[in-house]
Amino acid sequence: EQIEKGGYDHFMLKEIYEQPTAIKDTYRGRLLVKEGIIRMAGIDDNIEKFLNANRIIIVACGTSWHAGLVAEYIFEDIARIPVEVEYASEFRYRNPVITNKDVVIAISQSGETADTLAAIKLAKANGAFVFGVCNVVGSSIARETHAGAYTHAGPEIGVASTKAFTTQITLLTLIALKLAKVKGEISNSDYRYHLQELELIPEKVESALKSEEHIKMIAEKYKNARNFLYLGRGYNFPVALEGALKLKEISYIHAEGYPAAEMKHGPIALIDENMPVVVIATKKGHYEKVVSNIEEIKARQGKIIGVVTEGDVNVKKLADYVIEVPESLESLSPLLTTIPLQLLSYHIAVMLDRNVDQPRNLAKSVTVE
Ligand code: G6P
Repeated sequence: EQIEKGGYDHFMLKEIYEQPTAIKDTYRGRLLVKEGIIRMAGIDDNIEKFLNANRIIIVACGTSWHAGLVAEYIFEDIARIPVEVEYASEFRYRNPVITNKDVVIAISQSGETADTLAAIKLAKANGAFVFGVCNVVGSSIARETHAGAYTHAGPEIGVASTKAFTTQITLLTLIALKLAKVKGEISNSDYRYHLQELELIPEKVESALKSEEHIKMIAEKYKNARNFLYLGRGYNFPVALEGALKLKEISYIHAEGYPAAEMKHGPIALIDENMPVVVIATKKGHYEKVVSNIEEIKARQGKIIGVVTEGDVNVKKLADYVIEVPESLESLSPLLTTIPLQLLSYHIAVMLDRNVDQPRNLAKSVTVE
């Protein structure tokens, strides 16, 4: 097992560090920047289904559901296709309206999650076209869907999902860009710019990973907190949810993710000097509004950990700590802002002596209801 961990203390840390390569593996052969082409057989062969769809329904569980939420932002923003994101477990039992004008995208790392599989069967029975985004090749979901694409992240052993999440987002971004182009929703220059920026993500992830020592120091500072709040807006709202989930899963500290602007409708009541608040405040994503949310937290003595764009000055003045990530397009920023949140939860869990790779009560793949 030590050998399999490749010199890392845990599979989770190894998998966090594999992300630059995993993301490249996801877009390899698909993202042809020079030619300005995105090539994906599963989409190319079924392009009419996507173009004629009234909407896309994304079904998933856990971290994969969070990747679906990020995809909702990018599909609507760039490809102008209406999207609904559903917990597979709710979707399957709530008698949903599904027609043959719907495209369902099922996202699953393992390809074996029982609720997601059942949601797919229901969608198919009602005439929808179902597309799978899986990591495990030949898995049940990969076989049950009409078409699909693999993330090619490589085996993920740590129960808390890391590289599966970022590669799912990468793949869904490729699909959104492809559809935006075919539908004529994006200008040629904007499209080209997105492709170039996407290609640069692995090296930017690499650079984000360099903050590990700084993050360790922040982890030491807050490891004994009983609660954490994670805030983000727009593309980074799902990242806040995922950051909170990571912390809960492996450190057993209660954490909540919230859209930053919703804070005033409840969570603000919880803020005092004992509440660390992780705020994603990157440059392009409603920056000024997030800064004013940070001011509200500060006024109530909350402890602020800001995830900011390199070179940020405003948040630095207000926050107790900031963690920098390289600048990127807003739509691609979740691939970068996620990295420090993974490292933060990892180091808190290690410091609390938790079983990082196999947290209590959790399973890597949930094949029963
Ligand atoms: C379990 C795992 C999570 C995962 C979720 C969905 O809860 O512990 O890490 O996100 O299942 O799994 P899937 O394989 O469908 O992505």
